[in-house]
Amino acid sequence: MKRLTALLGLTTLACFTLAAGCSKAEAPARPEALAPTPDTGPSDASPPAAKKWTIGMSQCNLGEPWRVQMNADIAQAAATHPKIEVVFKDAQNDTLKQRSHIEEFASQPVDLLIVSPKEAAPLTPPIAAAYKAGIPVIVLDRAVLGEDYTVFIGADNKLIGEAAGRWLAAKLGGQGKIVELKGLMTSIPGQDRNSGFRKGLEGTQIEVLFEADMQWLEPNARKEMESALARFDHIDAVYGHNDPGAHGAWLAAKAAGREKEMLFVGIDALPHEGQAYVDQGILSATFLYPTGGVEAIDTALKLLAGETVSKKIVVPTKIFTPENVKTGGAPLNEPQDAARAVTGT
Ligand code: FRU
Repeated sequence: MKRLTALLGLTTLACFTLAAGCSKAEAPARPEALAPTPDTGPSDASPPAAKKWTIGMSQCNLGEPWRVQMNADIAQAAATHPKIEVVFKDAQNDTLKQRSHIEEFASQPVDLLIVSPKEAAPLTPPIAAAYKAGIPVIVLDRAVLGEDYTVFIGADNKLIGEAAGRWLAAKLGGQGKIVELKGLMTSIPGQDRNSGFRKGLEGTQIEVLFEADMQWLEPNARKEMESALARFDHIDAVYGHNDPGAHGAWLAAKAAGREKEMLFVGIDALPHEGQAYVDQGILSATFLYPTGGVEAIDTALKLLAGETVSKKIVVPTKIFTPENVKTGGAPLNEPQDAARAVTGT
């Protein structure tokens, strides 16, 4: 049956069309998969049974609060649609495990796949294979290489990185010494948050005196920050690519009695994490990185209904500072908005 499915997938590949900048799970890309699976409920004379679509969700890890929130957002959005069922798999931060999960979902096959990949290059081939077999694939938050997926949903990490740079430049009056604790640099958000940040610092006297890849993880960030503190007797600010990273740095600085010497800036802004840190005076700013879970379910429903959607959906961001955290933050449409949050002009 699996072999037949694969064959059908290949022969019907030509039906799966991509208009310029738009994606459509054009029925029937893989007829047996894109037709809802009939419910196996009672077969008396009652009204036609409800149909169910199965969505496979491959999550790279659930060790961080942000990813737990992403799954919760997806589950909650899906719960309001009786026709869809989401099956979650957690790869526990293991790229090979995530690869197998994607392959398992593709061979079942599920009706649609959502993947939030750990890193870009090694997870591009299994995602491309599922897509080429006719399964609509939504790539969520961390992008992959090339174009072999149906839709990418995420926030603009270059914008966020540049805004963080401009915010710090304005706050420090254009000069100072900074530590940058980077997210996993084999993932696109890590790369974009780094390049955007460096662009935001252009034309200033700010020096990044220490940088390290903390792989999005708070304990790593804390360890790297201990090294930075041991090497440099003055640091003006820490830019963490996520709130756990910025918080890990703060813990190290606090343990060394130096947390008041510097500012801490992070990204994610979950209400119970980054926003709470800003409220408590631990972080000076955090930038919203929405999980995109609700948008993923919205998009999945459109694709399963045969509608056309954009190839790329960018979810908006915000800046949270002590001045605005209690009133829901300020929208951030361009990097300059972050500097304006400091200067008020
Ligand atoms: C969670 C996380 C978030 C970060 C996102 C980037 O795994 O590290 O903190 O914003 O992934 O993909």
